[in-house]
Amino acid sequence: MCRRITLSALLLVGASLMAGDPAKDLPKFSGSDYQKYWDDACARCHGANGSGRDNSGKPLPDNGFDFTDSRKANKKKDSDWIKVTMEGKDKMPAFKDKMTQADVEKMIPIMRKFAAK
Ligand code: HEC
Repeated sequence: MCRRITLSALLLVGASLMAGDPAKDLPKFSGSDYQKYWDDACARCHGANGSGRDNSGKPLPDNGFDFTDSRKANKKKDSDWIKVTMEGKDKMPAFKDKMTQADVEKMIPIMRKFAAK
């Protein structure tokens, strides 16, 4: 009970400090629609098409990696991508409190598809 109050107070403070932060209000994964989760949780920084740009081609804030750059993306290991998604890195938020490792593994094909185009 007490813990829950502290946590929501912290979340409130955090949310107001981070106004305008693309990492705020990240939804928790539920269900089995990984493409939808990409659109809801990842595309705000990485772009719907993985390029880190919005539909008009403008770079998104906190875009960190161009998944459509196949030369670079194909050098990356699945295990590294799983780790970065779970643990976070610099401005890349950690998702381990949002989804399980098994779910992150199922998102890898979505990230791979961007480079295959
Ligand atoms: C708040 C913005 C933001 C959100 C939301 C976000 N990312 Fe990232 N992501 C980044 C940034 C910035 C980097 C670059 C981190 C670095 O290398 O310094 C990154 C890097 C990555 C990398 C490593 C790429 C590489 O090889 O260097 C993966 C994999 C990744 N993100 C997957 C995801 C997935 C999957 C989601 C959604 C579940 C997601 N990201 C949501 C900002 C974000």
